Amino acid sequence: MGSADEVVCTERLRLRPWSTSPADLARLEDLYGRDEVTGWLGGPPTVSMAELVARWHALHEADGCHGCWAVQRPDGVPAGTLLLKPLPHGVGEVEIGWHLHPDSWGQGYATEAARAVIDRAFGLGLPEVYAVVRPGNDRSLAVCRRLGMAPLGRMRHWYDVELEAFRLMAPAVVE
Ligand SMILES: CC(C)(COP(=O)(O)OP(=O)(O)OC[C@H]1O[C@@H](n2cnc3c(N)ncnc32)[C@H](O)[C@@H]1OP(=O)(O)O)[C@@H](O)C(=O)NCCC(=O)NCCS
Repeated sequence: MGSADEVVCTERLRLRPWSTSPADLARLEDLYGRDEVTGWLGGPPTVSMAELVARWHALHEADGCHGCWAVQRPDGVPAGTLLLKPLPHGVGEVEIGWHLHPDSWGQGYATEAARAVIDRAFGLGLPEVYAVVRPGNDRSLAVCRRLGMAPLGRMRHWYDVELEAFRLMAPAVVE
């Protein structure tokens, strides 16, 4: 089910694994060094960018449906990260998330990349996908709505903070 170097393509974007190349690490440092990004994620990463990349590769190795992709823009620059991973303290629920560099907001990249990852995951048999968003993160809430995700209300179920939860079910398969 998917290999670690698997690439997902959309009309404008190429989703590929983050690497530890100097260019990727510099872009990750820039992305996760910005308050306007990490403020919505509960703070900056507590590990190095190389360690983050290693953890993301391990995530994909453990289950090929999951992953943290670099969302490459048409000019080749990574716009940010698109992730699909198990929610903590859950019973198998899988979370989709998007972290874009502010220089790539307002282009529709998060929604386009998320649609491709969701389609891929549903194709691999994932029955449903969740998103959790801090109240007030209007841009992220708008991505959930654009994706057609159903609001489940505020909950503190998976993370120790109140979050707006959303769910999208896989389309029913007609035999
Ligand atoms: C959340 C986040 C990914 C949303 O990014 P975004 O760029 O607003 O969302 P999209 O990529 O879906 O882009 C939608 C916008 O692009 C516009 N757009 C421009 N060209 C477009 C095109 N060709 N196709 C589609 N939309 C396009 C849309 O009109 C919309 O504009 P609007 O913001 O004025 O309504 C981004 O703000 C971010 O990374 N924030 C920091 C991290 C974060 O909060 N992550 C989420 C944690 S839950």
